[in-house]
Amino acid sequence: MRIIRVKNRWEMSEKAAQVIIEKVKTHPFAVLGLATGGTPKGTYVNLIENHQKEGTSYAGVRTVNLDEYVGLPPDHKNSYHHFMNKHLFRGLDLPEEQIFLPNGMADDLDAECRRYDALIDALGGIDLQLLGIGKNGHIGFNEPDTSFQTKTHVVELTHSTRKANARFFENINEVPTHAITMGIASILASKEILLLASGKNKAEAMRRLWEEDVNEAFPASALKMHEHVIVIADEDALSLVDRDRHSRAR
Ligand code: PGA
Repeated sequence: MRIIRVKNRWEMSEKAAQVIIEKVKTHPFAVLGLATGGTPKGTYVNLIENHQKEGTSYAGVRTVNLDEYVGLPPDHKNSYHHFMNKHLFRGLDLPEEQIFLPNGMADDLDAECRRYDALIDALGGIDLQLLGIGKNGHIGFNEPDTSFQTKTHVVELTHSTRKANARFFENINEVPTHAITMGIASILASKEILLLASGKNKAEAMRRLWEEDVNEAFPASALKMHEHVIVIADEDALSLVDRDRHSRAR
């Protein structure tokens, strides 16, 4: 795991965008694994700005998102599909038919999970997966104690995750109770992973990431089993991690 320590969220977003832009320039048909949430928003702003000013093209890129709420249609203002359209896709030259998210409206959700795994395989796997991290160490919607063997699956969201996401809804009762998420095994199958963390509220999760061995009670620890993980984190997020220990993280 390689760590890039940055000053603040702004710098994190800029650096993360550089990594993605480099990937797209060197691999114009790259498969990008994308994430929603507050963390990647600034990165997406940078990607759009770079596309507009420098002309980096996404015409050949394919995108697969980590997760989607069950029960929200793509045009619902709180669906992850809507989030991605609003914060990224509309600003790029990415053809709609090259954009993929799990379908949270599918009648048969298990079949939808299998379809999504098959789709990722058919695309040739994910070249670069972007991740945020939850306060409890979740990646995607893989909550603590999810088996590291899981591929795409339906999850019941924990109260803490629903509470964290309630800020985007009228109130917590409107936050869906279930989601479809790529599993830890699907995430680890990516060729390269980019984890972003910003702010004091992620400091404890980053401390655990650094100090704990691989264990299913802390999902992000699975990333220690992967050869190519870059972590870009700001000073607040790293405030509980000893500077000298960075280089020793596995
Ligand atoms: P955030 O969420 O980016 O909104 O902090 C990250 C996550 O829960 O994975």
